[in-house]
Amino acid sequence: MSTVVLCAPFDPITEAELQAAAAELKRPDVSTVILAVEDEGVLDAETRLCFVKRALRPYRRMHAALACDVSGVRLDDSLIDSERIVREGAFRKAAPGIRKTLAEGMRYLETAVDARCKPHRASHSRSVAALCRTLAQVHHLDSDKAWKMGMLHDLTKAWSEEEGRALLEVYAPEAVSYAPPVYHSFTCPIFLRTVMGIEDREILDAIRQHTLGDCTGPLSKILYIADKIEPTRGYDVSKETELAMKDLDAAFALVYREAEEYRERRMDG
Ligand SMILES: [Fe+2]
Ligand SMILES: [Fe+2]
Repeated sequence: MSTVVLCAPFDPITEAELQAAAAELKRPDVSTVILAVEDEGVLDAETRLCFVKRALRPYRRMHAALACDVSGVRLDDSLIDSERIVREGAFRKAAPGIRKTLAEGMRYLETAVDARCKPHRASHSRSVAALCRTLAQVHHLDSDKAWKMGMLHDLTKAWSEEEGRALLEVYAPEAVSYAPPVYHSFTCPIFLRTVMGIEDREILDAIRQHTLGDCTGPLSKILYIADKIEPTRGYDVSKETELAMKDLDAAFALVYREAEEYRERRMDG
């Protein structure tokens, strides 16, 4: 009986990799499988090792190690590529034992944004996230949650009108009648829920409300404000920013009114 050592970044460990490892165990000559975490990855090796250990809990004959401590064979490129797909946001394709941790946590959010947004949109998202965090801190709200909703709020903005409409026809037919630029505020929460496994109601609601401004809670108002006044927008927002630090409701009313006036001016012109 032998021990098989399978090396990969496990950044993070995916369902496909876990299945491949479990298939090795079925071989009659194999008694133990060790998953060895390579050095390089987006997350540090210790975190990835913890994730592998968690994913392996149901398996008595599979163990985790660091690749620097053992020697073995490298997993197929196609399996390792499944890690990239998870890093780009498909958390539901991660190993079952870590999906919830990814969906509820803060990891791989920037890699998902960088993979799915053009560079200017990704930097807007970072800027919105930073301002959301600051405003949440000032108003004693959950600042991690605020950063996360800011980071993810435009994740489906690059989709074509056809892609957006196709998803809405299935999941939210009532939204199809809105103007196409509004679609992403509906498709994004659907994507977060179905592909990333994010179930946080406040995050999903805030993102759904960030274009129409039908905000129902303080985090939602923060996202609406931050989306309009984050510094990379390039216009003077000192009055709005100052007000947002003091009075969220008043700042929301001001920014909403300004957005309405801007829309009317454009329609007139
Ligand atoms: Fe947006
Ligand atoms: Fe935005």
